[in-house]
Amino acid sequence: MERICVLGLGYVGLPTAAMLATHGHEVLGVDVSRQVLDRLHNGEVHIHEAGLRSLVRAALKSGHLRIAEGPEPADAFIIAVPTPIVREEQALAEGAPQGSPVADLSYVISAAEAIVPHLQPGNLVILESTVPPRTTEDVVAPILRRSGVRDLLVAHCPERVLPGRILAELVGNSRVIGGVDQRSAEAARELYASFVEGEMLLTDATTAELVKLMENTHRDVNIALANEFALVAERVGVDVWEAIDLANRHPRVKMLRPGPGVGGHCIAVDPWFVVQAAPDLTPLIQTARRVNDGMPAHVVELVRQAVAGVERPVIACLGLTYKADVDDVRESPALRVLELLKAEGFEVLACDPHVRALPEAYGRLLPVSEALRRADCAVILTDHAEFRALSPEDLRLMRRPLVIDSRCALKGRLGTPDAEHRLLGSGR
Ligand SMILES: NC(=O)c1ccc[n+]([C@@H]2O[C@H](COP(=O)([O-])OP(=O)(O)OC[C@H]3O[C@@H](n4cnc5c(N)ncnc54)[C@H](O)[C@@H]3O)[C@@H](O)[C@H]2O)c1
Repeated sequence: MERICVLGLGYVGLPTAAMLATHGHEVLGVDVSRQVLDRLHNGEVHIHEAGLRSLVRAALKSGHLRIAEGPEPADAFIIAVPTPIVREEQALAEGAPQGSPVADLSYVISAAEAIVPHLQPGNLVILESTVPPRTTEDVVAPILRRSGVRDLLVAHCPERVLPGRILAELVGNSRVIGGVDQRSAEAARELYASFVEGEMLLTDATTAELVKLMENTHRDVNIALANEFALVAERVGVDVWEAIDLANRHPRVKMLRPGPGVGGHCIAVDPWFVVQAAPDLTPLIQTARRVNDGMPAHVVELVRQAVAGVERPVIACLGLTYKADVDDVRESPALRVLELLKAEGFEVLACDPHVRALPEAYGRLLPVSEALRRADCAVILTDHAEFRALSPEDLRLMRRPLVIDSRCALKGRLGTPDAEHRLLGSGR
């Protein structure tokens, strides 16, 4: 398999395309976004990920990676396009239970349709996007088969990389490879073998889909459990962070960390794909999603209590991405906190050294020192290294040194004279 066409040049597709191009393949990277194509043509890399810029530049310079707005004939096609959720009205219109979002498969469908005119006998098509169970068999394979081309190989190989460690994990992680038949799975294994050093675990396509969803749902449900304990701890006068540390000394307990909610393109989204497949069988998964989605409102309640009595308080929101040390704000609970604070009439300052631009509605992004200088209350929403390193001197810049810490970023680092430090999940 020499010629590979990768559709979707985002967090998953771009590193994959560059990796294949630097491991002996001729790769065409395809994206429908003019902005993405222009930046890549100008030698800029729009995804901020350790080592990616030099890998992409090397691949482009060698000529083994080319960029285009549409696919060309190839030996294998990899689809790595977004699979977001559609909420509320549209989901209801599609028959989902009240308040349950459903998968928006329109990007996957249009990528599969774009491949069809270029298919040739023996081609391999791999869907890497995360999808609801049966999508490969019931949605993607039928589109490809309508081409009438014989002997097509089709597989679902979910991507499991962790943003921040994408390049290392692309190579080192084990891969679940789900073929619609054995030959498809084996062909996909052969393709990944050019750069994957982890184990290759062959199965069928629907199992591979469910495995990926189970992994993220497992994390979501366990974060919801930690969040529920955080709320209980606040009520009964316990510090949940200490309690979790102690509980985790049990050899068979591994509690996750509470926080202001769950975000990102995966964990906050993928459990809904399981619910979509079986709404009547998934009360636990649905409740966990709602517990996590309820945390931003809880953070706002902590702010409201902390600034009661302050006239026209100014709130600095420190950290807008969904997790530490990345630039990704998709589904970020921090943005939800910001929206809710604004809706309550607070003056809110947005601050995140990793984020370059925000929609206008969130206001101008401010440097940390300016946000602190203007604030009566700082809410830590993402525990970026920059915020974990905040010192008492930094907080003394504030109009009133009051910190609400939803990530346990500063615990034990501030004395009472330095700042009032209120920790989410602590009833102390
Ligand atoms: N980001 C992650 O860490 C991660 C990890 C594992 C799995 N996934 C899954 O991988 C998939 C891709 O996620 P991502 O984070 O790379 O998304 P992304 O939004 O970063 O990138 C997707 C790219 O696809 C392009 N695109 C959309 N429709 C297209 C089409 N028809 N043809 C060609 N390009 C098209 C978009 O313009 C965009 O540049 C999703 O299903 C996601 O759930 C993501």
